[in-house]
Amino acid sequence: MTDLRSDTVTKPGVAMRAAMAQAAVGDDVYGEDPTVRELEERAAELLGKKAGLFFPSGTQSNLAALLSHCRRGDEYIAGDIYHVYRYEAGGAAVLGGISPCPLATGARGELAAQTVAAAVKDDDPHFPRTRLLCMENTVSGTAQDLAETKAAVAAARRRGLLAHLDGARLMNASIAQNIPAKKLAAPFDSVSLCLSKGLGAPAGTVLCGGKEFIGKARRNRKILGGGMRQAGIIAAAGMYALENNIERLHDDHQLAEELAQGLAEIAGTNGATVSLGTNMIFYAPAAADHSPLRHHLKGCGVLVGDGRPAFRMVTHLDVSRKDIAKTVAAFAKYYKSRKRR
Ligand SMILES: Cc1ncc(COP(=O)(O)O)c(C=O)c1O
Repeated sequence: MTDLRSDTVTKPGVAMRAAMAQAAVGDDVYGEDPTVRELEERAAELLGKKAGLFFPSGTQSNLAALLSHCRRGDEYIAGDIYHVYRYEAGGAAVLGGISPCPLATGARGELAAQTVAAAVKDDDPHFPRTRLLCMENTVSGTAQDLAETKAAVAAARRRGLLAHLDGARLMNASIAQNIPAKKLAAPFDSVSLCLSKGLGAPAGTVLCGGKEFIGKARRNRKILGGGMRQAGIIAAAGMYALENNIERLHDDHQLAEELAQGLAEIAGTNGATVSLGTNMIFYAPAAADHSPLRHHLKGCGVLVGDGRPAFRMVTHLDVSRKDIAKTVAAFAKYYKSRKRR
């Protein structure tokens, strides 16, 4: 199978598994796991922050960040398509009494400074206290413009807000734009970086920020049940990912571009559209083709994400140039057989 549903589907290779098997470990709830500490320091340095904290997942890392920045009765503002608002089961409201204020994003997933400024509520007992701006990079594969991001965060800061970045795929943005990750992270008080997406580790996210913030996040991680013991075995995979799998994101972006080009030729004559950002391609077929095309692709050994109106396809460590050729051929075959019908 060529699995293009997500970059979370990668399986650790031999070298990553060897690093995991050989990891020095200790009890990380006691702060005694050397591999976890090394990973946290390395990630904090990469993102230009004072401290880091290892989490089992990106969802838990984002939630701990929100719980650490906000109190009950506070509100966070975020793009209405951002993961933290849409795909994390409303955790901040469910567990933290923190209400979301979703804002319309632009065509590239961005939040405009004036949209942010207009969303901040006055200090009035009728309103929740607007406390935090949450942004995301990349957004559905699209690397965010740094000047635009800085302007949005500056608008939030003028109204006394803090800022958190869901940087699940921040390294994709950094590689695509050739901007060091710490520059992309600089406007924010905290940044969450996933190791289990394009970077290819089986699990793990590092939340980075100031020392006091990370202290609060450690307490919240414990509340959320995320304190792990000999976690160095998983952290070793994350260390391996940071050392070996960042620069190679270029390859994923290159293959995504090749796939998008191949599909654009097919789409043009078949009422479909294609869009691309870093390692993600979105293919919107004519409505009548959606289900049969997906079914056909599966029959050809190609799995795609099941979004509507567009399928999502994501390139990653386990996708080769051969997989791209196979995928383009499978799309072409579908339209050829449809014409014959
Ligand atoms: C942008 C973004 N943020 C956060 C997450 C959450 O990560 P996890 O699945 O590790 O909880 C995801 C997962 O796909 C994501 O795409």
